[in-house]
Amino acid sequence: MITLKQKSPDRLIIGSIMADARDFDGWRRLALGCQQAGMDMVELNFSCPNGYPEKGKGSAIGQNETIAAEIVRNIKADSRITLPIIPKLTPNVTDIAFIGEELAKAGADAFCAINTVPSLFGFDPLTLNPKVNVNGYSTSGGYSGPGIKPIALRCVHDLVENPGLPVMGCGGCTTGFDAVEFLLLGAGLVQLATAVMFQGDALIYRLFSGMMQFMDQHGFDTITDFQGKGIPRIRRFDQLDMAYHTRAMINEKKCNRCGKCVISCRDGGFQAITFSANDIFPCIDPETCVGCSLCAHVCPNDAIRLEETMT
Ligand SMILES: Cc1cc2nc3c(=O)[nH]c(=O)nc-3n(C[C@H](O)[C@H](O)[C@H](O)COP(=O)(O)O)c2cc1C
Ligand code: SF4
Ligand code: SF4
Repeated sequence: MITLKQKSPDRLIIGSIMADARDFDGWRRLALGCQQAGMDMVELNFSCPNGYPEKGKGSAIGQNETIAAEIVRNIKADSRITLPIIPKLTPNVTDIAFIGEELAKAGADAFCAINTVPSLFGFDPLTLNPKVNVNGYSTSGGYSGPGIKPIALRCVHDLVENPGLPVMGCGGCTTGFDAVEFLLLGAGLVQLATAVMFQGDALIYRLFSGMMQFMDQHGFDTITDFQGKGIPRIRRFDQLDMAYHTRAMINEKKCNRCGKCVISCRDGGFQAITFSANDIFPCIDPETCVGCSLCAHVCPNDAIRLEETMT
C-alpha cells in the first residue's frame, strides 16, 4: 500500500480490514496501520458471509449492532486515528438503516453498502453434487454481480435517508449507467468487484465513457449536478398515486407477431390480449388490461409501451 500511494499520491486509497468481533485492539491496530501506510480511508469489513459468520465475524458483526458499534467506538476513541472510518454493511439484515443509525451514533464517518448476499448455488443435474463443490459438499456463499444491484440500490437509498452519512454504493455495478443509478440515489462513491473479475480493469474506461455519455445527454457538467437527484422520486408505498393507471399499447411497426405477450398475459397476467387467426397483430382489450407491464417485459422487440390513462 505504501508503494501504491507513492506511485499514485493523488489517488484515493481505501483500506479494508477485518478482525475478530471482540478483538477491539486488533481493529484499532489495523486501522492505524492503514493510516500509517498512507491510506485515505478505511473500510471495516462487517459483512463478509463466506466462512466468517461461523467464527463470529464478517457479516455476523454487521448483524449485531452492539458489537459493530463497540468496534467503531473503540477505533474512534484512539486519537491517533484520523482517517475516515467506513463500516461495510451486509444486506442480510431486517433494517439496514437501523444498523446505520447505531454505527453513526458510535462515530462512523460513512458507509459502504453492500457486501455479497448469502445464497446457495444449486446442484449439478448429472452428478447431483452441489455447485461450488467441495468434495461432494457445499455451503452458503456470497452472491454478487448484476443480480444484486436492486438490493444494493435499496440499501443505499435506505442509508442515505437514515442516518444520512455519506454512502459508497456497491453491488452489481457493471456499466456507466449502473454507477449513475447509485449516484442518483445519493451515493458519493461507487465500488465494484465482480465486473472487474469478468472484464478486467480496462472496464473503468467503459464505465467512464458510459457516465460521460449520460452526462452529455442530460447536460450535466459534474457529478454533483445529478447526485441525489433520484432521492425525491422514491416514496413509501402508501405515498404513491393510486389514481395513476397505465395500459399496454402495441407498436405494430416493431411487432413481429411472435405471440409471447399473448401467452404471458393469458397465463401470468389478466387475459387482456387476444390474437386469433384473423388478427394481423395481437389486440389488447383496454378494459381488461390493468397495466401490470408483464407483456412489455417479455416482448423481445420492445414493441409494447405503457401509456397513462385517466381511469
Ligand atoms: C470473489 C470475491 C471476493 C470478495 N472479497 C471481499 C473482501 O475481501 N472484502 C470485502 O469487503 N468484500 C469482498 N467482496 C465483496 C465485494 O467487494 C462487493 O461488496 C460485492 O461483491 C458486491 O459488489 P459486486 O457486485 O460489484 O461484486 C468480494 C466479492 C467477491 C465476488
Ligand atoms: S399490461 Fe398486463 S394486463 Fe395489460 S396487456 Fe400487458 S400483461 Fe396483460
Ligand atoms: S411479444 Fe412483442 S413482438 Fe411478440 S407479438 Fe407481442 S408485441 Fe408483438
